[in-house]
Amino acid sequence: MNDQTDVLAGIEYRMSPTAQEALDQFLNVHPDMQAVHDQPWDVSDPKLFGNEKVHAIFREMRAKAPVNKATGTPQGDYWNITTVKNIQHVEALPKIFASAFEKGGMVIQDSTPQAKAEGRGKTFIAMDAPDHTLRRRAVAPAFTPAEMVRLTDLVRSRTVEVLENLPRGEQFNWHKLVSVDLTTKMLATLFDFPWEHRDALPFWSDWQSDLALGATPELEKLRHDIMIEMGTCMYKLWEQRLNAPPAPDLLSRLIHSEEMPEMDMMEFMANMSLLIVGGNDTTRNTMSGIADAFDRFPQERAKLDADPSLIPNAVQECIRFVTPVAHMRRTAQEDYELDGHLIKKGDKVILWYKSANRDESVFDEPDVLKVDRENARRHVAFGYGVHRCVGARLAEMQLRILIEEMIRLGVRPRVTGKVERLNNVFINGFSNVEVTLDPA
Ligand code: HEM
Repeated sequence: MNDQTDVLAGIEYRMSPTAQEALDQFLNVHPDMQAVHDQPWDVSDPKLFGNEKVHAIFREMRAKAPVNKATGTPQGDYWNITTVKNIQHVEALPKIFASAFEKGGMVIQDSTPQAKAEGRGKTFIAMDAPDHTLRRRAVAPAFTPAEMVRLTDLVRSRTVEVLENLPRGEQFNWHKLVSVDLTTKMLATLFDFPWEHRDALPFWSDWQSDLALGATPELEKLRHDIMIEMGTCMYKLWEQRLNAPPAPDLLSRLIHSEEMPEMDMMEFMANMSLLIVGGNDTTRNTMSGIADAFDRFPQERAKLDADPSLIPNAVQECIRFVTPVAHMRRTAQEDYELDGHLIKKGDKVILWYKSANRDESVFDEPDVLKVDRENARRHVAFGYGVHRCVGARLAEMQLRILIEEMIRLGVRPRVTGKVERLNNVFINGFSNVEVTLDPA
């Protein structure tokens, strides 16, 4: 642990409005955003994800045209790639299908000219070799099997504490009391982030990952201001860690890495943002999805009660079922024929993990949760190839411990109220999962 003086004391940063509040307000003012567009297979409308109607559209695409081009949409023209085979094919060719920020980036929404000029979003997930390789090397040591062993006891004790303190016999929001709390604490531990300020981490993360928020200059400005506040805090921490001996936290690792001299301050900030979003939204929403899925498939959780050795496989199946990252984007660097379709140089290519993880040619009854599914590990929720999620082991460890402790402590959430999903085309997530636990 680093010096415990509060380096963030006195720095002003806001904690509202939340990204969801800002988006809801925006949708009220711009109801046209809520329409499903004329183009039948344009799935860029965030509402299709909030109400899960997108699954029916993806099913139709997989059956009729697993590779197809949506044209004239609010996100321009783009290719829909919807199956495991084709996603892996594209991701195995990073020289042809690039991730680099300046070539198009990693999400369906194009960067604004201002963001491009400022280099915002220039993180290693949005870079190609050799830059990507170099940066990834700097953070990868934080996620080795040995590091996971080092963190296991801490993650378990925090998980137990959270589960044991849940209300019994009364309704509560699992998303807030379990998923947000646990992942925020994990992230604060990973960064050795000042504990009393840790709630800022999910707030910043939400503001970065909600793509629809870039839809107007006002929202873009608000997001920009919030990112500046985050940058100010990160700068303070950077100064602190730079002047302290190297430590195992992610910030210190990055700052003291051989690669750090290659990065300017903007890039350092962007990489911190990437790790905050990567470590936060994804695992958190899987935790909420687990409560929802176990309620919808009670026989599956009963299988775990009867045979806890199924838990590691159940983790993979839950990640497949929830698929917290709905898509990533690539941009073609040359003409390429995929599955009989000519993708032209410069075309935007969207890899829909949300669809591929329901690919019926790979997964039997894909819309059903099966904790003993033999090929659950074939999911592509972590991506594939050189960009495959660097934090996958950490996420798997957190989720495994959560399920193990739920089974051991008899924590069986029953959905007794609302389940609200995010209207978000990138992060497939929840804002509310109202559950009740039986009295102890
Ligand atoms: C269930 C949890 C998670 C899921 C489903 C997930 C999913 C993904 C996906 C789809 C990608 C892009 C892969 C590609 O383009 O092929 C990615 C990359 C990344 N993830 Fe995760 N992630 C999770 C948890 C985490 C955690 C816990 C962290 C860190 C604390 C993290 C950090 C990153 C980073 C830094 C990258 C960029 C890797 C690169 O470009 O080389 N993720 N993740």
